[in-house]
Formats: sequence, structure tokens, C-alpha cells
Amino acid sequence: MTTFKKIYESVLKFLVPLTPEQTYETIVHEAIRLAGGEHGSILIESDGKLKRVYSMHSILFRNEPEKGGIRYEVFISRQARVLDAKQIERVKEKHPNLKSLENRAAIILPLVYQDTSLGILSVIALHNENFKKRELEVLKIFSSFATLAIQRAQALQVRDLFISLAAHELRTPLTTINSYTQLLYKRLQGTNIPESGWVEELRWEVERLTHLVSDLLTTNAIQTGELQYRMQLSDLPEIIDRAINAASLSHPNHDFSIKKKLIRKETVFWGDPEKIFQVLTNVLNNAAKFSPTTEKIKATLNYVNGNFVVKIQDKGTGISKDDLPHIFDEFYKGKGNYRSGMGLGLFLAKSIIDKHKGGIKVTSKKDKGTTVAINLPIMKV
Ligand SMILES: Nc1ncnc2c1ncn2[C@@H]1O[C@H](COP(=O)(O)OP(=O)(O)OP(=O)(O)O)[C@@H](O)[C@H]1O
Ligand SMILES: [Mg+2]
Repeated sequence: MTTFKKIYESVLKFLVPLTPEQTYETIVHEAIRLAGGEHGSILIESDGKLKRVYSMHSILFRNEPEKGGIRYEVFISRQARVLDAKQIERVKEKHPNLKSLENRAAIILPLVYQDTSLGILSVIALHNENFKKRELEVLKIFSSFATLAIQRAQALQVRDLFISLAAHELRTPLTTINSYTQLLYKRLQGTNIPESGWVEELRWEVERLTHLVSDLLTTNAIQTGELQYRMQLSDLPEIIDRAINAASLSHPNHDFSIKKKLIRKETVFWGDPEKIFQVLTNVLNNAAKFSPTTEKIKATLNYVNGNFVVKIQDKGTGISKDDLPHIFDEFYKGKGNYRSGMGLGLFLAKSIIDKHKGGIKVTSKKDKGTTVAINLPIMKV
């Protein structure tokens, strides 16, 4: 394998979202794969000090780098260093607790990208007497990508924290607004005064906001692995009816229909009814959002080879070829789509359907319309 191909393969590992901890671990393992060696560590600067954030060897955790030592030197000068067996012996004389380690050669690299210097990466060999120049060069290229990956993981962590705080803060006042709106709605229901129409509007908007906020909370929970599923025997036609009702209520000018073509009496499956309701709601809301009120939105429920198949079809704007591969990405909105939304609905839908071991597929043609097909296995998952 060529060197570039090897580096490329390592860098690919950073394309999926990783927490900072997962990023450190991936960097060290990939560095070893690229350069050889048996151990590795990452130290990150904070408050002017280099702190060990990941190490493959527990002994190393007890060994904090000394100011003025070689690791600070690499960090400050931003110059990588290669140590051979003799130099390592000298390091061990200074650090008796490292004596039990049988390391013989090391590469220490600064984690720099453009003007930012985050810390250092070290790779240690137990069997080789020395690292070669080629290995150093490979790691130099790799370490810029590694630095980028760390920066990204840290930024994502801050963003997630911000989102979850914001969503929690928003939820409390929304609940109160929601309750009062419901009260007002009940009072004015059936009267002919214009205010009753206003309250109706208000109610829809509050509901929409509540959904947006709960979507945000759910995304965050997915990332932190906290999303709670309450799996049980659930009745699919009933969930669909509820979702269609809710969608008709939120989009009173759209015409929703459902056809159930079930050849099988059983209508239950193993899953979380609330989560499936959310999936259907997200898809139905998209259908309404992206199609004119003159076009019907048709849902069908079928049973094919041990799976339920729900299809939701609209004759709206459709999705362009460029957008189609990305619509399940987190925060992805179609290009030129200025309608409300955060680009989370389908991302959430897919994670929920995946959890049910089902599938979700979107077929669409620009200006012709969109069909979303959801497969749900009946059996226990
Ligand atoms: N039925 C549809 N018709 C046309 N475009 C659609 C349809 N469903 C989804 N899309 C496109 O896919 C993108 C992603 O959809 P998704 O539901 O994830 O996000 P959103 O609707 O923009 O925001 P949110 O669901 O968070 O309110 C949309 O922004 C839109 O461009
Ligand atoms: Mg949506």
C-alpha cells in the first residue's frame, strides 16, 4: 500500500462524529498503524500545562511531563523529535517510574494546524532501535489532520452542550405558554368572535415550537446515547391514525389520506410507539411543508414479507439530486430551502428507524414530488 493511501485511510476514520476521547484514541491507534511502535499518548495544553488526555499504557498516566523537558520543548518549538534507545535511557534516568517500560525509540510530534498548537502526540516503540525519517514524515502529515480532528471534536462538544442547555431552557416557558393557549382555546372554541381564530393560530405555532424544541433535545440525547426507548407491542395502524390526525391539525389546509392494505390480521409490531409517531409526524410535516395545499398527501400501509411498509407520498417541490444523498445528515437543509426547520427531522427519523432494525428510503424528483418509504420488521428487535 502506498504511503498516501495509508494516511488517507487513517484520516477517513475522522469523518464520523467522534467525542474528544474517541478522537484521541483513534489518533494514537492510527499513528501506530502508520509508523509502527507499540504505545502512544496524547498531551493537550490547558492553562499553560501539558496534560495527558490519552495513553495506551497506564504507567504513563503517572508521568506528567516536566517543564523544560523534551515534551515541552517539542510543544513550544513546534519541531518534532525522534529519540533513539540511548536518548530514551537518559529520559529513564530522570524518571525512575518509567524504568519498567521497555521502550527503545520514540517520536514526539507537536499537534499543530496552521497557527494553532494544541499539544503533542508521542509514539513509542518497544522493539525497534530507532524510527526512520520516512516514519517521521508520515506522522508529520498525519498529525495536522489529527489536530484538525481534535479541534472539530472539541467544537462539536461545545455545540452539543449549548444545544442541550438552550433546549432545556426553552422547554419550561413553552410548557406554560402551551397550557394557557389550550385554556384559551377551550374557552373560545365554538364562538364566532375573531379572537377564536387567533387563538387557533397561536395553538398551532406553540405546538410547532414545542416539536422543534423536543427534536433538539432528542438529537442531543442521541449523541450522548441517552435516548430512552420503551419497546413494547405496538399497534401500527393506530399510531398512523394518530400521526395523520396530528398532521391535519397542524396543517388544516392540507388534505391527508391513509389507505391500509393489510392482508394480515395482526397489526402489532415490537417497538416504541411514541418514537414511531415522531418519525411519521416528521415525515408528514415535511410533506405538508414542501407541497402546495392543492396537492393531496397520501399515506399507505402495507405488509410485505414480515415487514410493515408505510409510504408517504407528496406532489410537492421534490428534492434535487444534489441534496438527496444528504437529507439524513444532521442539520442538513436542502440548498435554497428557506422554509422553517433545522434539518433534524429526517436525521432523527433515521436513527429511530435504525433502532427498530427497519429502513427508511426517500425517492424524489425535482418539481414532481417525494415518497418516503419506511420498513418496520414485526419481530422482536
Ligand atoms: N417531502 C419533501 N419534499 C421536498 N423536500 C424535502 C422533503 N422532505 C425533506 N426534504 C428536504 O430534505 C431536507 C431535510 O429534511 P428534514 O426533515 O431533516 O429537515 P427540515 O424539514 O428542513 O427541518 P426539521 O425537520 O428539523 O424541521 C429539507 O430541508 C428539505 O430540503
Ligand atoms: Mg422536517
